Amino acid sequence: MVKVITYGTYDLLHQGHINLLKRAKELGDYLIVGVTNDNFDRDRGKLNVRNNVLERVEAVKATGLADQIIIEDYIGQKVDDVQKYDIDIFAIGSDWEGKFDYLNEFCKVVYLPRTEGISSTMLRAESSQIVKVGIIGCGRVAQRFPSEANVVSSVSVCAAYDIDPVATQKITDRHEDIKPYENIDDFYNAVDAVYIATPHLSHCEYIKKSIDRGKHVLCETPMSLNGKEAKELYSLAEKKGCILMEANKTAHCPAFNHLIAMIKSGMIGDVVDIEASLSQLLSNKDGREFDPLQAGGSLYEEGSYPLLPILKLMGINYDELHLYSRMENGIDIYTKGLFKYPKATCSFKVGLGVKTEGDLVISGTKGYAYVPAPWWKTDYFEFRYENPNDNKKFFYKWDEFGLRYEIQEFISCICNHRFSSARLRRRESICMAEIMHQFTERKNFFEI
Ligand code: CTP
Repeated sequence: MVKVITYGTYDLLHQGHINLLKRAKELGDYLIVGVTNDNFDRDRGKLNVRNNVLERVEAVKATGLADQIIIEDYIGQKVDDVQKYDIDIFAIGSDWEGKFDYLNEFCKVVYLPRTEGISSTMLRAESSQIVKVGIIGCGRVAQRFPSEANVVSSVSVCAAYDIDPVATQKITDRHEDIKPYENIDDFYNAVDAVYIATPHLSHCEYIKKSIDRGKHVLCETPMSLNGKEAKELYSLAEKKGCILMEANKTAHCPAFNHLIAMIKSGMIGDVVDIEASLSQLLSNKDGREFDPLQAGGSLYEEGSYPLLPILKLMGINYDELHLYSRMENGIDIYTKGLFKYPKATCSFKVGLGVKTEGDLVISGTKGYAYVPAPWWKTDYFEFRYENPNDNKKFFYKWDEFGLRYEIQEFISCICNHRFSSARLRRRESICMAEIMHQFTERKNFFEI
């Protein structure tokens, strides 16, 4: 008996898939089809798959061509499967030509002709609403936005605006689909939604302008430095039917979300303490980050990241927060915050002029979670217990600049008319802005 194996995602099963399965089946007597698991697809950067793994397995089953269906979970599994199932032929579409030659060591590798003119990507694009996004503020952070948006479905970045046309050009020169605009009204006419990546103090004005024109807004963190203002902006957005989201990339990162979900489900018992740190020594002291008139300083610049695990796990109702800062030329080059909750303490450290170990430690009554530096781009964490045999390690992938996860959630909120994302609740974002304001007002503040 000749055994054949083939693999795929088989999302929105189409004629190309059916032809391929027929061709693979004709190569032998018994066909095994490997369908990729949802996590596996996400890990390899396929964020747009529509059908979940069960639906995709059912669709392959319905073709009647597979004698056996298995799930593909991890990189390297093909080598294991070929040996485990005693496979004679590995078959795959010609779009993979050469990519699986390494399997020749274990079985025959056949690249089958691909059906022209159809793919899951094409079907996803045809059936979805495309959200046209424009970039406001074309600096360093915004430069990373177009390539990240490219891997998310239902979004097209088509416009860029900056008060400095040279900055706009830096983006439009590298992306021919993005048109530069010098007139903001023309810019707004070309888009459904905006990504705001301007200096902190201009966020509020651009958010209001954008909402006023009925545009959805994804705004770089910190969205606002004032809780009252943040609250008003969210309610204004909802009144106008617009999505307003703070672009805190850690909040949307798959590993961070899994970490929070596991801790909430009791993996380390009751959380009693959180320590979160982040520091970045910048050599250029002339930048916006060091300018007190442009809301420079460590807390405004970096604070929303370490505040995230604290507010997500302990909530927004703390009893007290004390802030300790080393000030230099009108900005905090280092700030430490100390929270008292009814049954827990939490602390965070941020530094633009002081280097700290940038890790995250969450201590509970049964064990603790440890995320090494730089924890804010979480791709690995560990649960540690009294008995080291109980320790567990978890590994993930952080893709490129990590903006794709927040873009995907933003688009999903727009398409599903969801005003609030569970990954970063509006009340959590408002609380972050209140804490920034406490610092501005120098309340419970001590200079060191
Ligand atoms: N395939 C094919 N002809 C097509 C599309 C896919 O022969 N028009 C083959 C692929 O080469 C692969 C199998 O079908 O062997 C499963 O591919 P999959 O990646 O699931 O399908 P695509 O439509 O290519 O999906 P996507 O657009 O998401 O990459």
